[in-house]
Amino acid sequence: MMSEFTQCSPYELTQNPFSLIGKEWALLTGGTIENCNPMTVSWGGLGILWNKPVATVYVRPQRYTYGFMEENDLFTLSFFENTPEYRKVLGFCGKESGRTQNKWTACDLHPCAFDGGAAPKEASLILVCRKLYAQDLTEDCFIDKSVVAPNYAGDDFHRMYIGEIIACYRR
Ligand SMILES: Cc1cc2nc3c(=O)[nH]c(=O)nc-3n(C[C@H](O)[C@H](O)[C@H](O)COP(=O)(O)O)c2cc1C
Repeated sequence: MMSEFTQCSPYELTQNPFSLIGKEWALLTGGTIENCNPMTVSWGGLGILWNKPVATVYVRPQRYTYGFMEENDLFTLSFFENTPEYRKVLGFCGKESGRTQNKWTACDLHPCAFDGGAAPKEASLILVCRKLYAQDLTEDCFIDKSVVAPNYAGDDFHRMYIGEIIACYRR
């Protein structure tokens, strides 16, 4: 863990999860410090399941990050100061793919090891998550079918990952 971070309990967080994820966006990192890839997410959730604090993320199968999510037990969710600089970084990591370039170096972000996961040291809040559950969303399970067409024109249903938040680091 980087020394500028202090560990806290998820129960101590005071941020609004709707604005934190939906408006400010987050960087999802799959993999380990040896081999990891970041992508921007703005859909997801923070809450409690099976009596554990959990983070839920939704990853489409065509993302390069998808393979890292599948092959590793841990993932991290990182949040940044709400500045134009980091907005640009999150915009970039939400458009460009790690398949064709190293997004860490392109954005001058420095991945560090956090409990076996990887996250950028530039973040202001990092959640380290251990995968508990993964499941593909399927068309037949949509109760409101009107959600399907505008979101899944490419038949690219998200895989949902629910991870136990095993550690939280903030500045
Ligand atoms: C604001 C924003 C939010 C995004 N949220 C998600 C998401 O929740 N799930 C997803 O699969 N893709 C999401 N994306 C798209 C990926 O971040 C994007 O396809 C990225 O280039 C994937 O990178 P990768 O190929 O290196 O994994 C989002 C993009 C933006 C700009």
